[in-house]
Amino acid sequence: MNVKIAEGVYWVGVIDWNLRLYHNTYSTHHGTTYNSYLLLDDQVALVDSVYGPFYEEFLKNIKELVPIEKITYVIVNHAESDHSGALPKVMEIIPRAKVVCTSKSKDILSRLYQTPWDFHTVKSGDEMTIGKKTLKFIEAPMMHWPDNMFTYVREDKLLLSNDPFGQHMATSERFEDEVEQAVVWEEAAKYFANTLYPFTALIKRKVEEIQSLPIQIIAPSHGVIWRREPQRIMEKYLRWASGEAEERVLIAYESMWESTDIMARAIAEGIQKEDTPVKLFRLSVTDHADVFRELLETRGLMIGSSTLNNTVLPSTASFIETLKSLRPKGKVACVFGSHGWGGGAIKVLELAVKASGIENVIPGLAVKYRPEEGELEACRQLGRQFAQEVKKLSKEGEKAK
Ligand code: FEO
Repeated sequence: MNVKIAEGVYWVGVIDWNLRLYHNTYSTHHGTTYNSYLLLDDQVALVDSVYGPFYEEFLKNIKELVPIEKITYVIVNHAESDHSGALPKVMEIIPRAKVVCTSKSKDILSRLYQTPWDFHTVKSGDEMTIGKKTLKFIEAPMMHWPDNMFTYVREDKLLLSNDPFGQHMATSERFEDEVEQAVVWEEAAKYFANTLYPFTALIKRKVEEIQSLPIQIIAPSHGVIWRREPQRIMEKYLRWASGEAEERVLIAYESMWESTDIMARAIAEGIQKEDTPVKLFRLSVTDHADVFRELLETRGLMIGSSTLNNTVLPSTASFIETLKSLRPKGKVACVFGSHGWGGGAIKVLELAVKASGIENVIPGLAVKYRPEEGELEACRQLGRQFAQEVKKLSKEGEKAK
């Protein structure tokens, strides 16, 4: 089916109710949508496509509004397969349509599909009219690939943003004001934390740039459309990109024979004694994408692991590898863990925390075999000290605003 989102602008995307793992890395408990938009004017423009396996439903949605052959422009805001997979099927029907995209998108599409489409590459500021509607293109590199761009429809004050401002959320409703608020904001945050987190500096600049445009609707290519005060999601992006976070602690850890678990609980006790909220996540039984979403709005990160063969446990190894790639901003961190005859995990954790770009790291704590009462007290003290560091960094952040 299709849904009208503005005069002459229709959603023609598809709903992927059963997607549970995006990128084969990131859990999508609520599924997703692949949003595509059809602009009907003197000329017809299709903005973005959908994931390949859904092409039949996608073509049907378009045909309900207009014969596919009427499409003169295919605008590609981003070439990743979830937005371009169905494009070859569309282009089989309209081989002479102009494919409008950035030069980087052109390169990616050429590599993915090896087809001689009629490309028309655009840069930031370029405009195109399709009748009464004027389309302005705004490059948005690394939001989330180098090729991303926004298409802004001036007359409708409509920003077709592709990945940014999206949420992995399958729903029969198309607008943010029609769905459960807790879920949409949770999924928007999880999307940012797991997809856009490494690019915060670029995101901050780009959001500030588009805030100068009159925007009434932001229509991303995943999830629901923001038509009610869309500046709310832009403000959230600015907050997340600037590293603002709550004065609380997240302890992500794994334990072989419970000693590191006992340490984590004693540390948490100390943190609570400082009236600081804390959450514990055992990494072998917790969804890591959910932990990174939690980290987005949490100031303090503690990571613990038992030592196994001079290094960390496998679930912790997986967590720290992703942490290094996401490069979270504005955090304070500390590591801990138990070991037997030889240590190793603490060093690996410290190196990983530094490699992730976290500058505020306080000395960690290692315990041999089982923590004794004196060592448990040291864990509690470490928790108290860490909570104080979290408060200090939060205050500095407040002052810097
Ligand atoms: Fe939704 Fe970067 O693809």
